[in-house]
Amino acid sequence: MSEMNGKAIATDTRVLEPITAKELESSTAKQSRKPATRQNKTININLDLDAGSSRAKFVIDGWSGSYPSIFKEVSGDLPSGISGCFSIGNKNYAVGRVTNSLNGEVVEAFKDNKIKFLHIWLIGALANHPDLLADIVDDRKYKGKPARLKVTLRLLSLSSSKRNDIAKILQGTKTFSFEGTVFEMEITNDNYLYPEGYGCALEAMKLIPQGIPEFHVLDLGGGTLTFSSYQVGKKPKAIEQTPASGNGMKAIIESLSIALARVDRGGIQYKKENLESALRNSKLLESGKHSVKYRHGTETLEIGDTVTHALSEWVSEMPIVERLLTKVSQALLNGQPVYATGGGMAISIVADWIVRYCCADITNPQFYIVENPQEINLTGLSNLA
Ligand SMILES: Nc1ncnc2c1ncn2[C@@H]1O[C@H](COP(=O)(O)OP(=O)(O)OP(=O)(O)O)[C@@H](O)[C@H]1O
Ligand SMILES: [Mg+2]
Repeated sequence: MSEMNGKAIATDTRVLEPITAKELESSTAKQSRKPATRQNKTININLDLDAGSSRAKFVIDGWSGSYPSIFKEVSGDLPSGISGCFSIGNKNYAVGRVTNSLNGEVVEAFKDNKIKFLHIWLIGALANHPDLLADIVDDRKYKGKPARLKVTLRLLSLSSSKRNDIAKILQGTKTFSFEGTVFEMEITNDNYLYPEGYGCALEAMKLIPQGIPEFHVLDLGGGTLTFSSYQVGKKPKAIEQTPASGNGMKAIIESLSIALARVDRGGIQYKKENLESALRNSKLLESGKHSVKYRHGTETLEIGDTVTHALSEWVSEMPIVERLLTKVSQALLNGQPVYATGGGMAISIVADWIVRYCCADITNPQFYIVENPQEINLTGLSNLA
């Protein structure tokens, strides 16, 4: 037996010895003299999070916001008074738009980093709220002690199969600091995982005619196109989710820049960022066509027709996209409703094209684009409360 074990036995034996009244008195006196360990009060918050590959969307106690899903591990000190900055251990991070003005290595959620850096997207959401952390810092009683947060989380994720990975990442992130104050964070609930697009499914449930047992959700996000089927019940229950990863809006914009490059316009370079904002501002003309205007220097180019070419290539060149859209059409043909959501569906030229493609030759198709498709996946969770 090792020396350590021997010592352990000796200590155990002492514990079994009867304690005299005098010993008891002196030990209680010692205890009452010991100062109580003072801690700051815990602050409870409700956080809904959809850390998408294009934008991280969040609702904190009813306040909703979003930031581009990009972060930098910043080399050097963090600026203070700027949104989205915090530290974990000795590493400094900045998330969202602020990364444009800081040096460091870029990490994008789009590149298979949605789950791997879930803790960064989560703390990034807290740090992107204009007042939340600053108010907690100001209001805590013991300035030298950490601020304490209890988070009730609802997390949207397609990767429910990665449940354990998600739990491990979240359990491992207990402490971070914000503008010099240490925060201790605890996630209070275990049942935080919801299927991606669940908010839209909850919203859809309000619109479904009586007697329909099943409905579907088509989610066109920044990175992924997903087709999900739900069973109607007190709450919608996901039956099946088919994602086409890497085939969301970013793929459409990729096809668009290739299609545009085929048209020889001298030295014009089409920036993806500008193409995205041109698409977001697409307008329906009286002719039924959509106008998409791209600004280059002093010139304004009309690229609406090229967008429709790019969309048909997106389908014809990606068999999985064609398969998912065929699933939509088959469901419509069977008389089942399909609800379209995701940021891509907020772009009128894209949404109209998809509606036309899926509904071709189907009489009375039940295909609906939900209101606020760019945020309903998350904000629709409010129907659960
Ligand atoms: N108001 C808007 N704000 C931001 N993006 C918008 C808006 N309207 C349309 N979009 C488009 O929506 C896309 C992002 O959609 P969404 O936020 O649903 O994706 P995501 O959830 O981040 O990605 P994924 O679901 O693939 O992980 C962007 O490519 C953008 O072009
Ligand atoms: Mg999404």
